Amino acid sequence: MSVRIAPSILSADFGRLGDEIARMEAGGADWVHVDVMDGRFVPNLTFGAKVIETLRRNTKLPLDCHLMVVEPERYFEIFAEVGASVITIHAEVSPHMSRQIARIHELGCLAGVALNPSTSLEHAREVAADLDLLLIMSVNPGFGGQAFIPSSVGKVRRARALLSETRSRAVLEVDGGISRTTIGEMWRAGADTFVAGNAVFAASDPASEIRALRAACMESA
Ligand code: DX5
Ligand code: ZN
Repeated sequence: MSVRIAPSILSADFGRLGDEIARMEAGGADWVHVDVMDGRFVPNLTFGAKVIETLRRNTKLPLDCHLMVVEPERYFEIFAEVGASVITIHAEVSPHMSRQIARIHELGCLAGVALNPSTSLEHAREVAADLDLLLIMSVNPGFGGQAFIPSSVGKVRRARALLSETRSRAVLEVDGGISRTTIGEMWRAGADTFVAGNAVFAASDPASEIRALRAACMESA
């Protein structure tokens, strides 16, 4: 299993988005994490298709789109069209996950399901085998730069067990408060894909921060 680092552009300087993405790509990022918020599922508003299209033109890296929106299916087609690689929906607002996952696949994207800190893993069990990605939130979604919730470590351990019980090949991603101090325990617990907003964008040298995050996993292995 290798460590995948996905910088979240929520913490980027939007006035220089093209440069920020180039900096991440040159710095060794594996994916670009794109936080779409609607001001309804979460108390914050971000961006939509236009920004995803801009990112697509500026990087070859996979675009990992995290939809923190109600009725996420309204955006599948346009996001796929402008270049989303992964489309992740929240279980809390997705009563028809099986149909929604099938639709994401039909559009040629990888499909993910995200769980808030208070949402039981059981919400993902029945669809686990169909998933390409399971996202465990380690903060309450809505904002970058929040404090890591320590109980997410145990949840990730149980999520890894669930993926193996269901023979799922899904990537196990964690999002929120990931830093040099928290990444190691999440890696040991079984996560393989790490969203990092503040940690990489606030760093004076993102490339060395991305290297440090990877090294923190290897040191703790
Ligand atoms: C939170 C978002 C995260 C956020 C992470 O709602 O889903 O992707 O950007 O930011 P940090 O790494 O700063 O907690
Ligand atoms: Zn996110």
